Amino acid sequence: MADLIGVFVFVSAVFLSLSAGSSALDLQIVNAERRIDVSSHIVKSFLTLKVENTGKDRVPNMVLAFPHTQINHLAMVQALATTGKKKKMTYVPLDVKPTEQPDASNDTGYFSILFAKPLGPGETISLEVLYILTHSLEPFPAEISESEPQLVHYRDSAFMLSPYHIKQQTTFIKMPNVKVESFTSVEPVNRAGKEIKYGPYENRSPYSYAPITVHFENNSPFAVVEELVREIEISHWGSLQITENYRLAHGGARHKGIFSRVEYQSRRSFSGAPSFNDLLAVLPPRVNSVYYRDEIGNISSSHLRAGFRKSELEIEPRYPLLGGWRANFDIGYRVPLEDFLFESPDGRRYLNFTFGCPLVETVVDKLTVKVVLPEGSKDPSAVIPFPVDQALEVKYSYLDVMGRVVVVLKKNNVVPSHNVPFQVYYSFKPMFMLAEPFMLVSAFFMFFVACLAYIHIDLTIGGK
Ligand SMILES: *[C@@H]1O[C@H](CO)[C@@H](O)[C@H](O)[C@H]1NC(C)=O
Ligand SMILES: *[C@@H]1O[C@H](CO)[C@@H](O)[C@H](O)[C@H]1NC(C)=O
Repeated sequence: MADLIGVFVFVSAVFLSLSAGSSALDLQIVNAERRIDVSSHIVKSFLTLKVENTGKDRVPNMVLAFPHTQINHLAMVQALATTGKKKKMTYVPLDVKPTEQPDASNDTGYFSILFAKPLGPGETISLEVLYILTHSLEPFPAEISESEPQLVHYRDSAFMLSPYHIKQQTTFIKMPNVKVESFTSVEPVNRAGKEIKYGPYENRSPYSYAPITVHFENNSPFAVVEELVREIEISHWGSLQITENYRLAHGGARHKGIFSRVEYQSRRSFSGAPSFNDLLAVLPPRVNSVYYRDEIGNISSSHLRAGFRKSELEIEPRYPLLGGWRANFDIGYRVPLEDFLFESPDGRRYLNFTFGCPLVETVVDKLTVKVVLPEGSKDPSAVIPFPVDQALEVKYSYLDVMGRVVVVLKKNNVVPSHNVPFQVYYSFKPMFMLAEPFMLVSAFFMFFVACLAYIHIDLTIGGK
């Protein structure tokens, strides 16, 4: 009987070590600090980890685990290795990729962090990880009237979900204000003002999980762009034309009852209600020909502050957005070509522009960025620091003979941290720049010939 148990333990140990890619059993987390910021509707979590190799082999990577409730809302995971202390700290960005763990319990999601060099036995590494969640604050109650504040639930685990043993860990949750209705207690737990501290907890075994719910007031604007299509058109004649089509929604608690604009405006100054009536778009410096319009026409209530490093466009939809309400609109602007179009050392041209969404603190569920290249451009390729879906299209516009190549980039679940530079490289023969003027000249010439012919015919008729 004892033998049988021995064999069973041995078999399951082999199974575990195989399925966990051997590394899981070799690493342990010596210390984990998690700081979760729920003050806006975009949840940002910062992890500070100290990881030790307690095995006998070198380990090339570590694995982060996310519960199924979070994995679909995960917009971004970034990791840095840190060395040195405080002021002399140096940071090395590490590669983070989704990965599989066959021994995974139901629907857990995994990301693998690749170390710059494998971690030797007995060695430790310090890491900083940032991950961002969208649509993770659930309004409760789900419907509120105009004068009520917005309360939300945030759910997580008091222990960090991990395939490794964690020696010591602490979690801090930072709320937007002191109005906390309730929170699950997992001793030791402490609340001080806007912050709740879970832990420290000692020696938690792999996959320890203790569900917690925090119920608190959050009146920040839940600005969600359900769909954004940005078109960036390059004209070698001097400018970049950008056109953006927004389908904006208020993603917070649904509004119930009647809406009184008078009450709304008089309350505005003192109530912290979660509705919003203006939004800020951060645009490049030197923008011009800015417009903002919806189905009805131009909306004049927008203010542009053009700056040296950036321009700010404050836009005000025709009506304030209350929970569940929507507004569709377009923004368009031009910027000088020389600020964004360059030549690479190999002679190709490239556009260097900002990805993401110009609206501040906004989630984009579905983003499409289209870069319309000049006619005659060839071999386009896009360089972007995270995975996006890429495709090519052809667009015909006024005076085009062959149509223009359009590079189409698509990404779901986009947050402000995705507003980073991306490049689209392409080759272009300057000859093509003459195509349009040539067509214009030939059109005038034909018209001239036609006129001549007409006059000539007219004269001959008149002469008879
Ligand atoms: C809307 O604004 C644009 C740019 O300022 C202007 O060209 C256009 O004529 C305006 N349209 C209407 C209907 O006012
Ligand atoms: C793109 O522009 C950013 C600044 O806007 C700059 O830091 C970056 O080096 C540029 N990238 C390339 C490839 O030119």
